[in-house]
Amino acid sequence: MSTLIKNGIIVTADGEQKADLYMDGESIVAIGEGLSYEADEIIDAAGKYVLPGGVDQHVHFSFTYKGSKTRGFETSNAAAVGGTTTLIEFVNQEKDRGLVETIDDYRKTDAEGIAMVDYAFHSVMTDPREEVIEEIPKLAEAGYPTMKLFMAYKGQFFHADDDAILKALQKGKEAGVTVMVHAENADMIDVLTKQLIAEGKTGPYYHAVSRPPVVEAEATRRAIYLAELADAPLYVVHVTCKEALEEVKAAYQRGQKVFGETCAHYLVLDESNLAKPDFEGAKYVCSPALRTQEHRDALWEAVDRKWLNAISSDHCGFDYAEQKHMGFGEGKSFADIPNGAPSLQNRLNILWTFGVCEGKISRSRLVDLYATMPAKINGLEKKGQLAVGFDGDVIIFDPDYEGVISYETNLEGVDYSPFEGFPQKGRPETVFLRGQKIVEEGKYIGEKGQGRFIPGKAFGAAYQW
Ligand code: URP
Ligand code: ZN
Ligand code: ZN
Repeated sequence: MSTLIKNGIIVTADGEQKADLYMDGESIVAIGEGLSYEADEIIDAAGKYVLPGGVDQHVHFSFTYKGSKTRGFETSNAAAVGGTTTLIEFVNQEKDRGLVETIDDYRKTDAEGIAMVDYAFHSVMTDPREEVIEEIPKLAEAGYPTMKLFMAYKGQFFHADDDAILKALQKGKEAGVTVMVHAENADMIDVLTKQLIAEGKTGPYYHAVSRPPVVEAEATRRAIYLAELADAPLYVVHVTCKEALEEVKAAYQRGQKVFGETCAHYLVLDESNLAKPDFEGAKYVCSPALRTQEHRDALWEAVDRKWLNAISSDHCGFDYAEQKHMGFGEGKSFADIPNGAPSLQNRLNILWTFGVCEGKISRSRLVDLYATMPAKINGLEKKGQLAVGFDGDVIIFDPDYEGVISYETNLEGVDYSPFEGFPQKGRPETVFLRGQKIVEEGKYIGEKGQGRFIPGKAFGAAYQW
């Protein structure tokens, strides 16, 4: 299959140019003005933007909270219609099992033959026994060169203490495995949660009260010091507040290899959503918690000025009718509500509508944040860029489309969207995955199982020094 896309505006992290793009087989073969190839299909993209397929490096298809699991890879076509052609899934190490074998098994049973976009994996270390620490280098050999530890969630099997984080950083550094942290102080949250529940403050809004910005800032700073001690790179997932952001920025500016991401929902939602009546606030329970306008403003500035390096979805497909209601009723509280919200499909739409169209970020900055840097950081060498030799993961983006976001028309398989009713300007009209068209006129036309595992290279390009 070969495709020639003519007359579009090609947008990369470095700039824009009106040019043609030719793909043959799975790869981009040429980009330039006036290309004339004999292609199987020629598309006129005049008036449209040509963007690289997105890389969403923070997805939870296998997350289980208090025994209840999210929707999985069978909903990955939602990524495709949203312009994400590669996603990276966090796989929690299973009890009494190794890091690599847990991912290998999950990959075979839950991803292969099901995934509709390409995919990679992050390990989540839950059981830091000596032999598990010793196993860390094997992650890099297996193509899983990134590992997260949860500083939050005291009492859950996946919570990690400083001992585990420091050892992971030290061993990871030897092997090229990048350590990531969910940075929130678990003890602070635990104390505040118990106090709030004792006072009868149990509704979804108190989720935010139980984990204010200082909780995130403290853990972020601590993780940065641990990384300094280990002289290892660190990636802080979902930075949500200005205090934590300042820690990441300061570390980065003094030359430490500290990278940070934020997520689409922290840029456009705030804690007032948690106060919605009739338990609707539960839809917005995610961790860290949604913040206020001043934090949103700080995050927009940070993504624009490269103090944060990526914007992910932190997609969590828990439904409202049953799963979010685990925190509803007699004896229940916000602490029983599964954390996370579905947002796989609308990451690019939100960033375009509220970022590019409102002048907060340029189109090139958008490309860097949602595709190029996530690919580099995670060692996905042929992803995230429109350049010769890269995978033919390409979006033809129609800036004139206007719509409204609704769970009823999306493919996430969840009974709500945190962005319900939001206006949408523009959309990925056509999407290619390794040269194959998988979205046409905004509709998914690919096949189940078309997605492929993409091994990551140890210490992605963003970490080379
Ligand atoms: O609330 C969230 N983000 N849930 C998913 C797990 C995590 O903490 O990333
Ligand atoms: Zn997290
Ligand atoms: Zn997450």
